[in-house]
Amino acid sequence: MSAVPMSQSPVFDLAPWSQNHLARVEQALSQWVGHGAPAGLGDAMRYAVLDGGKRLRPLLVLAAYEAACSGGTGAQATPVLADAAIRAACAVELIHAYSLVHDDMPCMDNDVLRRGKPTVHVQFGEAPALLAGDALQAFAFELLTPDDSLIPASVQATLCRLLARAAGSAGMAGGQAIDLASVGVALTEDQLRQMHRLKTGALLQGSVLMGAVCGHAAATAYQALSDYGAAMGLAFQVVDDILDVVADSATLGKTAGKDAAADKPTYVSLLGLERAQAYAQALLTEAHAALVGSGLPDTRALAALADMVVRRSY
Ligand code: IPE
Ligand code: IPE
Ligand code: MG
Ligand code: MG
Ligand code: MG
Repeated sequence: MSAVPMSQSPVFDLAPWSQNHLARVEQALSQWVGHGAPAGLGDAMRYAVLDGGKRLRPLLVLAAYEAACSGGTGAQATPVLADAAIRAACAVELIHAYSLVHDDMPCMDNDVLRRGKPTVHVQFGEAPALLAGDALQAFAFELLTPDDSLIPASVQATLCRLLARAAGSAGMAGGQAIDLASVGVALTEDQLRQMHRLKTGALLQGSVLMGAVCGHAAATAYQALSDYGAAMGLAFQVVDDILDVVADSATLGKTAGKDAAADKPTYVSLLGLERAQAYAQALLTEAHAALVGSGLPDTRALAALADMVVRRSY
């Protein structure tokens, strides 16, 4: 029998894998978020996080964790590492949710619909939305820093560093600053790529890297997963640009057609629809190649998640 790398196996079914992992994430988020906060604030935090969203970033953390564990060079999956991975999965989602709350505010994209519901500032007001975002960001780091007996201090520090970098001025917040400064500006392809890598790609790549750290990936595998995360993360925002043009608001759960209306530079405005789609496909091929080069025996969930990123309809 010839050895077929599992990452290329056609038999992996993402649906049951996702269902199982999503259930753990939903349960953990619901258990952790917004309790003990003053009433209005806790409600806004839970509204922003619960009941919606694809949860792609948590799934990437958990898939990368399992892929790294499958390498067997580090630890086997243990309760301690699994706890770190679930905390990392929730922490990334909290940063993402906070970024959406702020992205939708009148001073940024001024959107009224998110995850099929009124945006947080529409539902609760601007100041509560601002504070809910602030509190979600802080809580993400609190989740990553439990007692040292639960997660080794060095793992906690590495996870915090990765998340802070992905969220901060060299990542999401920096990309959002470029986005705001680029309204009505004709960016070059290099500039647009840089904006997308920062505003969206960094947190998706960071999710993969946090999972890799929880699974103690060896150096070669870590670099390959980083390359996978970079390609898949950029593809994600290229597809977001495409969906803004081709999908409707009901399907997206957010207002369609906003980018053109706000005169934002996107892959569709720069390359046109067909070339943008081809670029997303090329990035998907790049992501798959990185997984094959990782040397990890089981990267099937990561491969399937990258497929989902590019083929999704919302
Ligand atoms: C939307 O992200 C914002 C971008 C980074 C483009 P998602 O499409 O992952 O949003 P949810 O979490 O599923 O709502
Ligand atoms: C937002 O990009 C990226 C974030 C950091 C939140 P978009 O502004 O394109 O996201 P959507 O389309 O509103 O979800
Ligand atoms: Mg935006
Ligand atoms: Mg937006
Ligand atoms: Mg968008």
